[in-house]
Amino acid sequence: SLIPIILCGGVGSRLWPVSRELHPKPFIRLSDGRSLLQKAFLRAASLPDVKEILTVTNRELFFKAEDEFREINTDRIGTSFICEPFGRNTAAAIAAAVSRVAETSGADTLMLVLAADHLVADELAFAKAVDEAAKLADGGKIVTFGIRPETPETGYGYIEADGNTVLRFIEKPPLEKAREYVASEGFYWNSGMFCFTVAAMLREMKQHCPDILDAVSSCMRESRISNGEGWTQVQLDPKTFGAVREDSIDYAVMEKSGNVSVVPCSIGWSDIGSWTAVSELSKPDSHGNRIEGEALLHDVDNCYLMSRDRIIGAVGVENLIVIDTPDALLVAKRERAQEVRHIYAQLKASG
Ligand code: GDD
Ligand code: MG
Repeated sequence: SLIPIILCGGVGSRLWPVSRELHPKPFIRLSDGRSLLQKAFLRAASLPDVKEILTVTNRELFFKAEDEFREINTDRIGTSFICEPFGRNTAAAIAAAVSRVAETSGADTLMLVLAADHLVADELAFAKAVDEAAKLADGGKIVTFGIRPETPETGYGYIEADGNTVLRFIEKPPLEKAREYVASEGFYWNSGMFCFTVAAMLREMKQHCPDILDAVSSCMRESRISNGEGWTQVQLDPKTFGAVREDSIDYAVMEKSGNVSVVPCSIGWSDIGSWTAVSELSKPDSHGNRIEGEALLHDVDNCYLMSRDRIIGAVGVENLIVIDTPDALLVAKRERAQEVRHIYAQLKASG
């Protein structure tokens, strides 16, 4: 059987002020009323042979995540959680998931890592890609999902491939390299989803980041397991988890391993990374404006305006992003939406 692993951890600082430590990106609700996290769950649940979905998240977010799943889990798929006291990035989160599944389901179990903050528009193509990936993973490969690159985005990993074989994996290259890759044949964006067997990932981690694997294994031995109505939870022990080195799976394993495959796919994938990406989910009016909530406009073009509680009035402006929340207001130039992370960083620095 296949066990999907949902990684639900990053703060999503570019989506401030809606995304916060206790209300991060996966919990943002889209216009259909569902959160990104719920959509990830439903995407995983719709795959064949899925009896359990394992979510790795912060312990402060556990009840929230559990609530969100309960709301939509009509098939009563088993939900289990690994709760982190703090983030140690994706290598640690995946190592914890792998050692848990090794214990509960065995070394041959297939795992599918999904991000809690992505959108996949074409569910059918997604299911086909997972099926293809599962075959490669059964043969011992660590499988990535490659997306045809459109822009020299520097926030992504790049995959150079020959057929399904990955020749090189380059995480977050500098701009000039990204430009070169986008212009060349045989390059893909790494979507951030991975498929592998427990045994294959254990082998790779033993070889490329044994310190992370060992530290996480010790932590798992110190951790507490509890059960509730329809769920199981592993609470990672803060003391031993604190000793785990912070690194992403992309640097810790993908860049180093010679055992990586790719399934090129066209699944309507998007990483909802910035307000520009969020705004593009809704349809613009004839002036290119997109409005969530209530806004009164006069001579306004290409703006994204969002407010839950108050009316926004705008006059004579263009290419702006305006996000109003009860205690914070964001005003940004549309093309500089990536830099909203600096506001979040300033807030954090000032406590
Ligand atoms: N549980 C847990 N703990 N989850 C985490 C942690 C953590 O410490 N850190 C990150 N995550 C989750 C995030 O919530 C997200 O769902 C996923 O893991 C990926 O983390 P990001 O921080 O969003 O990574 P990224 O966007 O910089 O890069 C990754 O994704 C790109 C595609 O969106 C890489 O895999 C890139 O190669 C890839 O192109
Ligand atoms: Mg991301």
